[in-house]
Amino acid sequence: MQGKPYIYFCIFAHFYLNRFDTYNLPQIHMSLKDKLDLQRLPRHIAIIMDGNGRWAKERGQDRLFGHHEGVESVRNITEACAELGIEYLTLYAFSTENWDRPVYEVNGIMELLVNTIRNEVATLSKNNIRLHVIGDMNMLPGQCKTEMEEAMALTSQNTGLNLVMALSYSARWEIVNAAKNIAQDVKDGKLEPEAVTPEMWQKYLCTTTQPDPELMIRTSGECRISNFLLYQLAYAELYFTDTRWPDFRKEHLYEAILNYQTRERRFGKTSDQIQQNEEIIS
Ligand code: FPP
Repeated sequence: MQGKPYIYFCIFAHFYLNRFDTYNLPQIHMSLKDKLDLQRLPRHIAIIMDGNGRWAKERGQDRLFGHHEGVESVRNITEACAELGIEYLTLYAFSTENWDRPVYEVNGIMELLVNTIRNEVATLSKNNIRLHVIGDMNMLPGQCKTEMEEAMALTSQNTGLNLVMALSYSARWEIVNAAKNIAQDVKDGKLEPEAVTPEMWQKYLCTTTQPDPELMIRTSGECRISNFLLYQLAYAELYFTDTRWPDFRKEHLYEAILNYQTRERRFGKTSDQIQQNEEIIS
């Protein structure tokens, strides 16, 4: 394009683009969220929320301050998952091993959990989010257990995002528990040993109604799974980021999902097999 038409085009483009800015409509550049392939989102994202203590110490604060700030990240990421239409978000909020932390910290986290759930249950319901808890709930202080049970009951009819809190949870505890129950059922004649398959084993886990996570994120630079969903993460894509949990926001989640969308998930097959299968489907 040359001459007058080009000048007219530039003037038109200038006013047209400014109009978008004026009304605060979506920007022309693509945000990370815009780049997501909405057809290939993970159904289930699991997160190890790590780094609260270090985040607080770096600011000369007590560790509990980091946990309090971590709640804002929980809100932000839950909202992001609900907006995207993710079906399951599992958050590792307190491990079996965390009971060995100093008493003041354990009590502080339990109190924080009670207050957070109490304050947020209405928002969860308003946003059609259903709360679940996995873990040994009998280990929780009475008030915390009651609060969780009430929130689960109140949100039980919601059909949007399933928010799963792993509380007093460890995968070895869960797997050993499953083994005990399977052994008991075999002993009672309810189950034949030959019937014990990976699919059947899944029915004895805390996550029996949930699909396995496709994406597991751990914040704060540690590259470990730390006793989290060991059975369920067999084929999950793992994503580790240096960002501390209290700093983790929607944009970080989009980055993790974009990274997930670059992975080829082969489930033990060859790359050629996966590509052939995709061609048949499309
Ligand atoms: C790990 O960081 C974090 C925890 C053990 C607790 C996580 C709890 C919250 C974010 C608040 C829970 C609230 C809700 C509603 C789920 P860390 O203490 O191990 O950090 P560090 O590795 O830097 O010491």
